[in-house]
Amino acid sequence: MTSSTALRFFSAQDADPHALDGERVVVIGFGNLGRAIAHNLRDAGVAQLVIGNIADEYAQQARAEQFEVLPIAEAAAGADVAFILIPDEVIPEVFEADIAPNLKAGSAILFASGYNLAYELIHPPKGVDVLLLAPRMGGELARERFLNKQGYVAYVSVEQDASGKALKRLLGMAYAVGVLYAGALELDAKREADLDLLVEQTVGAALGVAIMSTYDLGVEAGIPPEAMVLEMYMDGEMETVFRTFRERGFYRASYTHGPTAMYGGYVRTMQLMQSDLAAKFRETLEEIQSGGFAQQFQAERSAGYPALTMAEQMASGDNPFVQPVFEAEARVRSALKIS
Ligand code: NAI
Repeated sequence: MTSSTALRFFSAQDADPHALDGERVVVIGFGNLGRAIAHNLRDAGVAQLVIGNIADEYAQQARAEQFEVLPIAEAAAGADVAFILIPDEVIPEVFEADIAPNLKAGSAILFASGYNLAYELIHPPKGVDVLLLAPRMGGELARERFLNKQGYVAYVSVEQDASGKALKRLLGMAYAVGVLYAGALELDAKREADLDLLVEQTVGAALGVAIMSTYDLGVEAGIPPEAMVLEMYMDGEMETVFRTFRERGFYRASYTHGPTAMYGGYVRTMQLMQSDLAAKFRETLEEIQSGGFAQQFQAERSAGYPALTMAEQMASGDNPFVQPVFEAEARVRSALKIS
């Protein structure tokens, strides 16, 4: 394992502002991140910019926003640098059919997630640069933070350097899309993918369980649903907790709570650490690292996304189980005039 002293952070000074001069840059996909990246590249002055997209509503939107749009195979064939911004589980078939066979020798492909490289769902050809530029933000913030020059953090790595200028291209792209106003940390695709999945499937899942089961317990104990959602996230206190983690540090943030909260939080955390939660997290990590989770997600796609459809129903409120929470949130939002 690389020691932390070997980690490289990159900032705007590390990028050559002319790195993309004369390069034809293709953005494949015009969705959440693709649209923001395309606009950022255009505003950064990338002259030869093309969108590669299937004929769908995203392609129509790109044309409406004055981008040149080509079918993916044709766009890939003309690319010096191609940023692949379509959903992770769709990439393997599109990459194999339309992208890989058309790439020019010496061109570069970039991925916004290490997922397909890490779990060997794709096998890029030898003669191209393979680069990772994985922002930690969705498209809306990537665009907003480009415009106000705040930037947004990303992990970057050169996975394969065929042209001899892979790092220069990578940092040129990181600069042009706005990442380097904030900074980038070098992390290879396997560790980026493991990290990304690990945190969303442990911290994210545990937070989800904590909120859902605490809501049920509180309501069962006679606490109004409105008070439950207010206390857990709608009063904004949780946002300040995470901000304090960032500004003061995770452990030191405890000092910002009163002694009752600090004592209660400490003893309950120690109790939970004795439970099988940590063992479950380890199992999760093993499934991620082995590629088992990626295989499971490809099977979910082949089966027509049954679990994802249920998750989307919950997220949209189209499920009786979550209706009371949606209603309580709406009442709190209206009473507190949260838009
Ligand atoms: P998205 O779901 O918004 O992608 C939509 C785009 O994919 C559209 O252009 C659509 O035409 C195209 N597409 C969909 N199905 C297709 C198919 N069968 N064949 C060809 N094209 C198809 O994707 P999103 O969320 O922007 O993700 C793109 C990449 O960025 C992924 O690698 C993801 O991991 C990464 N990423 C996404 C972030 C996010 O918050 N959305 C944040 C950081 C990285």
